[in-house]
Amino acid sequence: MTSSLDAPTFTDSPARDLVCRGCGARYPLAAQHACFECFGPLEVGYDPAALARVTREQIAAGPDNIWRYAGLLPAGADPATRVTLDPGCTPLVRAGALAAEVGLRAPLWVKDDSANPTHSFKDRVVSVALTAARALGFERYACASTGNLANSVAAHAARAGVPSIVFIPADLEPGKVVTTAVYGGDLVAVDGSYDDVNRLCSELTETDEFEKTAFVNVNVRPFYAEGSKTLGYEVAEQLGWRIPAQVVIPMASGELLTKIDKSFTELVEVGLVEAPAGGWRVFGAQSAGCNPIATALHGGTDVITPVRPTGIAKSLNIGDPAAGLYALEAVRRTGGWMDYADDDEIRAAIRLLARTTGIFAETAGGVTVAVLRKLVDAGRLDPDAETVVFNTGEGLKTIDSVAEQVGPTHRVKPSLRAARDAGLLD
Ligand SMILES: Cc1ncc(COP(=O)(O)O)c(C=O)c1O
Ligand SMILES: [Zn+2]
Repeated sequence: MTSSLDAPTFTDSPARDLVCRGCGARYPLAAQHACFECFGPLEVGYDPAALARVTREQIAAGPDNIWRYAGLLPAGADPATRVTLDPGCTPLVRAGALAAEVGLRAPLWVKDDSANPTHSFKDRVVSVALTAARALGFERYACASTGNLANSVAAHAARAGVPSIVFIPADLEPGKVVTTAVYGGDLVAVDGSYDDVNRLCSELTETDEFEKTAFVNVNVRPFYAEGSKTLGYEVAEQLGWRIPAQVVIPMASGELLTKIDKSFTELVEVGLVEAPAGGWRVFGAQSAGCNPIATALHGGTDVITPVRPTGIAKSLNIGDPAAGLYALEAVRRTGGWMDYADDDEIRAAIRLLARTTGIFAETAGGVTVAVLRKLVDAGRLDPDAETVVFNTGEGLKTIDSVAEQVGPTHRVKPSLRAARDAGLLD
């Protein structure tokens, strides 16, 4: 569970230690992801005084990427130490027409993270994880991936000139396989589900041969997870240092959701932002083919029963979600809710988002927008409260999902007469 690599120096980092999410035990900052006492997952703990030193002015003077928030992250304070494609500062798009279609009266925004260098939010988590991995002395970069993480790790490794080895389920979309393989690292297609891939990677981290390999979402997972906080920081800054009343977030492991919530909590704690009156409410979105966290919420239980995922939202297909319990906690604590959407609803939502905002989302974005609509219909989302939905990935990577439903609306010979005959001049 720990690496035998020497303890690093995270120079100027506000991070203090690793804290068990289960029992609260504390450990030094190292390549450790599970608690020796209770086997619970570890997360980064910070020195509150160090966080409180960060100012809005400092952030505004930083670069136009996630590193403007370096003072709130565990690694990368010194630009020379970063392993990064400089992701972040993606558009926050006002979505009036979408709001009208789904029945929201208050402002609705889409945080469009498909604009990152490898076209998903995963560039944020990978930049933070690999910057920590470098400080920890790792010499090869790896991950278990449902697709987007694979793209990002392979690209970061290529940029850094470090070898990579990426593990994916063999049945991933071609748009995710090609966009990983092109960077030239090792790419291992595993005959099994993501959960099988993840188990294999956990076993590999324990071998001597992989001792110097950082699996971003296994042995350096606490650092990796922190990168998602930058999505919440950015939304707050882009809104003029305000936290929206409602956020709708896709879930696979559930980690992203917990970290956006954590980012808002931190911003309030360090005094950068005032909490909105009535607080913020966190909503989670899954697909019907992989809905173990939402099912637990609906059943009023903390027992998350793993599923064997099916359906087109492959990037969210984690049947045994590592942070599911903490996603449930965040949603219950803030008074939010979760729901899930089937494949037809996902396709319709991809098209709805595209038609109303000009944003072409991958299936995960379709899940989120479909669930947005359901939550409004069910009265779970307040139509008069400002809402942000997170589009975490790019439609071109899952183009097959809608390819059969859309195409040219007309076909004509290249003449005015043909154009008239086709009704284009009416
Ligand atoms: C596009 C996209 N959105 C959301 C997620 C969910 O991330 P998490 O595992 O942190 O819940 C993933 C995970 O792979 C993803 O690829
Ligand atoms: Zn513990």
